[in-house]
Amino acid sequence: MTVAAPESAPRAIPAERAPTSRAQPHRPFLKWAGGKSQLLPVLLPHIPAGIETYYEPFIGGGALFFALMADAELRPKRAVLNDLNPDLVATYEVVRDAPDALIAALEPIAARYLAAEAPERETEFYAIRAEHPTDPVEVAARLLFLNKTCFNGLYRVNRKGEFNVPHGRYRLPHILDEDGLRTASVALQDVEVRRGDFEAACAEATARDFVYFDPPFHPLSDTSNFTSYTEHDFGADEQIRLKQWNDVLTERGVGVLISNSPHLWIQGGYEFSGYQVDQVPSRRSINSRGSGRGPIPELVITNPQRARATIEA
Ligand SMILES: C[S@@+](CC[C@H](N)C(=O)[O-])C[C@H]1O[C@@H](n2cnc3c(N)ncnc32)[C@H](O)[C@@H]1O
Repeated sequence: MTVAAPESAPRAIPAERAPTSRAQPHRPFLKWAGGKSQLLPVLLPHIPAGIETYYEPFIGGGALFFALMADAELRPKRAVLNDLNPDLVATYEVVRDAPDALIAALEPIAARYLAAEAPERETEFYAIRAEHPTDPVEVAARLLFLNKTCFNGLYRVNRKGEFNVPHGRYRLPHILDEDGLRTASVALQDVEVRRGDFEAACAEATARDFVYFDPPFHPLSDTSNFTSYTEHDFGADEQIRLKQWNDVLTERGVGVLISNSPHLWIQGGYEFSGYQVDQVPSRRSINSRGSGRGPIPELVITNPQRARATIEA
């Protein structure tokens, strides 16, 4: 990626351009680090109507995907969701294909945990964290349980890919949200879920499609950020590869939307290549230190293709 210092600060989207948030029958069933629920009023106006296939190669909790499925005007004809995290991908597949089995598996785990006192809860949490189920329904039940009971709903793994977030201290965690899982399952019907790298996830995208990239944020300092969603770090080389892949898609006429941290290096690289870069205020919902919860701006990046409000038939 060519690195050029931006000449001016990125344009801030005026608050009045942001629509008020819409009612959402479909919503994420997971709390995810870097989740985009708070940014939806800023992201939704960038989505054209008439998308043939919507691709989200870094799905995480899928905040934008679920918002699109809840919007009759913006709902795409097809969707392909992808992530590198195998347990997350298995969970999406189970929520889509076997919500009843998942609810049945999660029910006793949730009941046992909620009935226990604090020390037993902790023991239960670490016992489940240490398990390595292979059955997809058990994988999904474990991931949902850990997601609702761990510290701040974080997802972080060590070098071996093992989940290593400690126990949280919620009094009444909503471990089993039966309605939420069923409505998410409805939204996921006919949706293709892939496990792999972001390039392969949208390799066949055409000018009638749209891709939203929400990669692990590029750290603002050596210690500030968290990118360990998988055992493979998403470092500077990966950010460069992502930018180059967006150039390929742009050349092909595919509309893209990208979010990232407000790092000058990221901003400059995209601006230099003619992308529109906006800086928007955001409130991250997950941060390991309470003092870090203040508004942190984010970059919202688009290529010229997405300027079409509707993809022509
Ligand atoms: C910032 S999160 C996405 C959050 C999501 N937009 C939401 O609303 O919850 C980034 C995701 O990228 C995934 N990831 C990391 N490296 C990847 C890669 N090379 N290809 C695909 N996904 C990757 C992580 O597992 C993580 O779920």
